[in-house]
Amino acid sequence: MKLSTQLLDWYATVKRDLPWRKTGDPYAIWVSEVMLQQTQVKTVIPYYERFLDRFPSVEHLGVSNLDDVLAIWSGLGYYSRARRLWEGARYLIQNLGGIVPKDYETLVKIPGIGDYTAGAIASIAFGQRVAAIDGNVKRVVSRLLAWPEPIETTRSLRYFRENLLKWQSDQNPGDFNQALMELGAMVCKPTKPHCEDCPLAQFCEGYFQEDVQHFPVKKPKTQRQEVTRLTFILRKGNKIYLQKRPSKGLLADLWELPGVELSQDDLQNFTNSPSTISIDTYLNLFRQAIPESGYERQVEEDFKHGIEFHGPVYYTFSHRRWELIWLIIDLDKNYGVGWDDREVELTRSSLLREKQGKYQLEALETRKSDMCKWVSSEDLRLIPLPVAFQSIIEELVTF
Ligand code: ADE
Repeated sequence: MKLSTQLLDWYATVKRDLPWRKTGDPYAIWVSEVMLQQTQVKTVIPYYERFLDRFPSVEHLGVSNLDDVLAIWSGLGYYSRARRLWEGARYLIQNLGGIVPKDYETLVKIPGIGDYTAGAIASIAFGQRVAAIDGNVKRVVSRLLAWPEPIETTRSLRYFRENLLKWQSDQNPGDFNQALMELGAMVCKPTKPHCEDCPLAQFCEGYFQEDVQHFPVKKPKTQRQEVTRLTFILRKGNKIYLQKRPSKGLLADLWELPGVELSQDDLQNFTNSPSTISIDTYLNLFRQAIPESGYERQVEEDFKHGIEFHGPVYYTFSHRRWELIWLIIDLDKNYGVGWDDREVELTRSSLLREKQGKYQLEALETRKSDMCKWVSSEDLRLIPLPVAFQSIIEELVTF
């Protein structure tokens, strides 16, 4: 027997009696598919019924107020789905006379309708021969084919689509697509597939390989770069120096404790013989971390008294892991007052204004305070410092 016959026979005997399976109305099917995208069938049913009672057609939905739509959606979650459905309805009214089009190509141009939803509507409501590939279907197909690559790529999707179209029956593409979804939800489950109950076991390469659970294969973990960052804690009395990060790249535009990521060479020196590292090397790193600070002379004095490392603590970003080590440089409390015009002592009230978003004007007036500031330990709480620095701050100050 053919794969599609086997699948459709199975579907005919087990299929659940769901409200959207009793209608041919493309609008209702569209609503159901959007609701089902991130939500389980049993949760969707009452919402689907209430939604269609309140908005029985594209017209009803499109002329409604978005707030009313969101109110009906309330509790179902992922509210952007409701907004996109509403936008789609408005688009249909404005551009297509409120009629849901039949073909995949026109459907996919409607705002909020992506590849999957267009395929589902075209096949289920209009019997068109197109695939509808959701997460369940991807899993089932990757097992049927023992597909050796991660399933998230366009290449995988293209290959799955080609195979699905080969397998799909002419008679009932909508049922074929829904049957695959049903199989994924009921039998070909992510962790414990019930291969003994599967109507497609005889076609399943993963099953032949006795390795169904191996599929879909996992995406290789992103390689994380391990980087050691030397952080400079400039301290004056109970105030700590912060500066703004550049507008591009990691932690863009956020305040930071200044520092430098150490090169491989620097790192080797640090790990092999920290005691032989010259003060010039430290000063160089300091200049990279805080260019033109104007504090070099005092920093150099401080370094001469000895350099003590603290840490490490670790912080993991998606593609990078920081090993943070830091050294504390205590400047004379009075150093720089009235001498360094970059330095603007910010008051608690100006920080509060900044937190409330009213800082822009003041920042323009005193551009320098835009880029760096001295902050007392109480005020540190008001600054949106990246979590990466949290452990250091906690060791520095006890709130
Ligand atoms: N999940 C997404 N679409 C579905 C459908 N039509 N039937 C059952 N589950 C689904």
